[in-house]
Amino acid sequence: MRVLSGIQPSGKLHIGNYFGMMKPAIELQNQGETFLFIANYHALTSVNDPDLLRANTLNVALDFLACGVDPAKTVFFRQSDVPEITELMWLLSTVTPMGLLERCHSYKDKIAKGFVPSHALFSYPVLMAADILAVQSTVVPVGRDQKQHVEVTRDIAIKFNNKFGEVFTIPEPSIKEEVAVIPGIDGQKMSKSYDNHIELFGGKKATRKRVMQIVTDSTPLEEPKSTENCNVFALYKLFASEQELQALADKYAVGGFGYGDAKKILLEAITEYFAPFRARREELENDLDYVESVLAQGATKARAAARETLTAARRAIGLE
Ligand code: ADP
Ligand code: TRP
Repeated sequence: MRVLSGIQPSGKLHIGNYFGMMKPAIELQNQGETFLFIANYHALTSVNDPDLLRANTLNVALDFLACGVDPAKTVFFRQSDVPEITELMWLLSTVTPMGLLERCHSYKDKIAKGFVPSHALFSYPVLMAADILAVQSTVVPVGRDQKQHVEVTRDIAIKFNNKFGEVFTIPEPSIKEEVAVIPGIDGQKMSKSYDNHIELFGGKKATRKRVMQIVTDSTPLEEPKSTENCNVFALYKLFASEQELQALADKYAVGGFGYGDAKKILLEAITEYFAPFRARREELENDLDYVESVLAQGATKARAAARETLTAARRAIGLE
């Protein structure tokens, strides 16, 4: 099994990113050869402030390392350090039907959200296909919103293989159903673009504020409450053990227990869960040379893998 996933440095990461993508991907590093990367080429479709792009990129590196990426097990790199990916993207573009890209929801959704409709935004799935195919990954852990992009990747790889011979391994998306869509504080999918997210490493005050803003229904304090469709309960599930979850469900069932109390329990769980990661992140912030060396080593390994694929693709297509 060869695992690959990436995330755009287009803002601060949130707990939807963590449970939907980071945690499952980091867990896989113990089961197969894992590649994780910071998709800064992709982020150019939305970030056009160079200092912000650099700052976001460093933040994502710190976040991933703090959350458990082990450089001894995972090839961790910055996308822009592997130019083979962009060359491969061109080769893949030549077998990508326009209709395939026109059907992608993400392009239409982003335009609706006010993204500039650039060619890069439109061809984004081909770049993503190049990321995935360059290292011949078999498994791509992502949240549900990325499923279509992995399907597009499969279509492109199959087309290329049929036309030019078996160059690419066909990847599978890996989507954990229970964390495929983490809800935000308003119950919609948590997303930075809906501003309903809880940052992974937000300050104490900011996290508290976000938790207290979680939308709940108007059941009076003294009445029993339903755990179903409760945004506080849904988020608590991510952090609590079975017994802890049952204890909260019992409190809901009895009544006389307000959503404010439930939010305090959730806040404590979030704080406790991320405390060791936060401590590790602070250490890493004071050792940026180490972070840089991890990314440099990652780039060397990722380039070697990507070069091998690119050479095979160039030969198959007649460039060599
Ligand atoms: P955002 O929606 O905040 O812009 P991204 O689109 O950058 O997040 O997502 C990065 C990764 O995190 C992707 O793999 C995506 O599927 C996953 N992800 C993002 N939000 C969620 C969520 N609410 N639930 C599950 N996974 C998510
Ligand atoms: N498109 C993904 C997102 O917005 C990020 C990404 C880029 C990615 N290339 C990838 C994810 C390759 C998995 C595999 O979240």
